[in-house]
Amino acid sequence: MISVNHGVFHLQNSKSSYLFRVKDGYLEHLHFGARVQTGDAQALAPLPGCGWGGSTLYDERSNDRCLDALPLEWSGAGRGDYRESPIELSAGGEAITTDFRFSGSEIVKEQPQSALPFSRGQTLLAVHLADKEAGLRLTLYYGVLPTAFTRRAVLENCGALPVSIRKFMSACTELPGAFCLHTFSGGWIAEMQHTVTPVTMARSCLESTTGASSNRANPGFLLAAPDATETDGVVYGFNLLYSGSHYLSVQKSLQGVTRILQGISPANFEWTLAPGERFETPEAVMAYSGAGYGGLSEQFHTYVNQSLIPPYWQNRPRPIVYNSWEGCMFDFTETKLLRLGKTAAQLGCELFVLDDGWFGRRNSDTSSLGDYTVNTKKLPHGLKGLGEKLGAIGLGFGLWFEPESVSPDSELYRAHPDWALHDNLGRKDLLGRHQLLLDLTKPAVRDYIVQQVGGILDSAPIRYVKWDMNRHSCALGAKQHAFILGLYDVLHRIFDGRPEILLESCSSGGNRFDCGILYFSPQIWCSDNTDPVERLRIQTSLSYLYPPSCFGAHVSASPHAQTLRATPLSTRGNVSLFGCLGYELDLSELLPVEAEEIRSQIAFYKAHRQTLLYGRFSRGQTDGGALVWQMQSQTQTVSGVFHGLQPAAPGYERLSVTGLDTETLYRLESRPQLLRVGAFGSLLRHVLPVKLKPNGIAISAADGHYKMYDGAQTVTASGAAFAAGVALIPRFSGTGYDPNGRMQSDFGSNVYSIKEVSTHEKL
Ligand code: DGJ
Repeated sequence: MISVNHGVFHLQNSKSSYLFRVKDGYLEHLHFGARVQTGDAQALAPLPGCGWGGSTLYDERSNDRCLDALPLEWSGAGRGDYRESPIELSAGGEAITTDFRFSGSEIVKEQPQSALPFSRGQTLLAVHLADKEAGLRLTLYYGVLPTAFTRRAVLENCGALPVSIRKFMSACTELPGAFCLHTFSGGWIAEMQHTVTPVTMARSCLESTTGASSNRANPGFLLAAPDATETDGVVYGFNLLYSGSHYLSVQKSLQGVTRILQGISPANFEWTLAPGERFETPEAVMAYSGAGYGGLSEQFHTYVNQSLIPPYWQNRPRPIVYNSWEGCMFDFTETKLLRLGKTAAQLGCELFVLDDGWFGRRNSDTSSLGDYTVNTKKLPHGLKGLGEKLGAIGLGFGLWFEPESVSPDSELYRAHPDWALHDNLGRKDLLGRHQLLLDLTKPAVRDYIVQQVGGILDSAPIRYVKWDMNRHSCALGAKQHAFILGLYDVLHRIFDGRPEILLESCSSGGNRFDCGILYFSPQIWCSDNTDPVERLRIQTSLSYLYPPSCFGAHVSASPHAQTLRATPLSTRGNVSLFGCLGYELDLSELLPVEAEEIRSQIAFYKAHRQTLLYGRFSRGQTDGGALVWQMQSQTQTVSGVFHGLQPAAPGYERLSVTGLDTETLYRLESRPQLLRVGAFGSLLRHVLPVKLKPNGIAISAADGHYKMYDGAQTVTASGAAFAAGVALIPRFSGTGYDPNGRMQSDFGSNVYSIKEVSTHEKL
């Protein structure tokens, strides 16, 4: 709801209020937080009556006319506000001052047309400001969504001369209070490292300058009260619907107000606005929670699931995929793929994704990007033939592309070298993974991509696309924003008319994990790092900002390709259950007991899929310190308990399940997990009823064929007992195999299903 009353603007959803007012032509920020009344405006306004010595007054009639000390919704440059400005402009090569003053407002009936993605279904307010001297009009858009607010800005040149934009933020938000800034940075296979920095008068910035939102600096961040916990305290969340270079800064003022700027990175940014032209910033999204990190992430998850991803995929089950990459890389034939597909289907997978290597002469990453003609040596019956054969064994068909890049060794590059981005002074091209970026600012390049990808999608029964993007380009420079607009244009043209094709975005894993991409692609490949121990950290970090329904999460081989760490198959599965489940290991190497373990994982996923994708997610710990992920819907709760290194003689452990009705009776059941006998090494003599030599022929033959149960447990208790914490069966402690214990070594885990005991059972 939006109300405008005597110059006071009040945006409200069921969780929070956002209030500001017009004061002396400026927009003064009043409140962003718990719901309040519009009439509270005066009580919430800051009282800078006595002023601060040393300040520059905007109007000498009173000491409180000092822009530097006021919490503002926007500020210009050169009018007494010395804090970081959200806008920097120049004209004729010289920086100009700006002074935007309120000129009117309106409730926007229809979502304005935009080349950028924006949140769906919002109620919009447009607040108009004008700078008469500079000949500029600025419109600040505010959007109200069920669990978030949005902001963006549009600048229009109404003057007679061109104006150059050096910096133009999407939002300037000011909040009183003490905060810690939570950011998520990293790199390839090391995404989403959660860093907490106290907000002080020294400015903290987080910026991506690579042309993509990047794994170096996710655009999402939190500002939390220093004492906030998972369930209590004030936490604000911010994000940006943008996939290019972005910028965030926070800085506390002497008055104790933190200014937050979010928008396109000013690094390498330059945009000329000719008379009559307008420039729009990407949309910023923000949410408030008084119920800690859990409350905030619940609101962001609802936002992504219900106000951002494509409507067709909202609340829809996601297919369990088998992806050919880690198992085959570039080395496959149709026969090999179909053999893998057959096993995948038998295990319960639903869709087969053919990853890189199906086109041109692409037998390694050195060639053929851009030439999307099928390699008939590998696939003699083409994509259509493969897709139909997969269909016949009960699998949907998905295909990999990397449309934004080109290999210098490709037909496309030989025909159109000028379609790639090159250094603007003619310096030698700098390659990454032997590839260059196509210049998506050129209409001919965009048309080519739309026609190539679209043509292939229509030529075969393709239900899913993995859209990869593996390298940035140093030659992008000032074109970075136009490139991103080009990318969005291409995505609209390919996928708007094919809503039922599931798009999974990927950029060497999480190198472009952002809300701009989620507008088109309901799921994103989180990381090329599929080691479950690393994924626990990456997916936990992501969960603060994004819901598990958008995490591409696959089970891969052990020891792991990136860490050389050996982990139990059960844990690899348990981690991937909390996301869009898939398998990416060579299924032809599975032992029978491993196949049975995977079947158990898939059966569990199918029985709990809507809860695991769209339930309420929370992070916690057992009293033994193990990480707990919980997903809860109206009818089911799924709890995952994940251990690190196995201690000798571990103590008792209790699992607390939150959100249940205290009076109701529930039953917890563990997902059946299987172990191969070989996991016990020379301890076999203690665990088997018969005496066999650990390295003998009999054991080698038996390993993988015989199964041992791990951690099977059932508990029936009231919701109150579950909230207090129910006792988990003991962990392995050196006293031998116990079928009633959790027979786990390092990185052991279990997943539990908790459901209400039916009335019938109670009788
Ligand atoms: C990088 C991706 O992250 C991988 O999953 C895989 O698709 C490769 N590219 C293929 O080249």
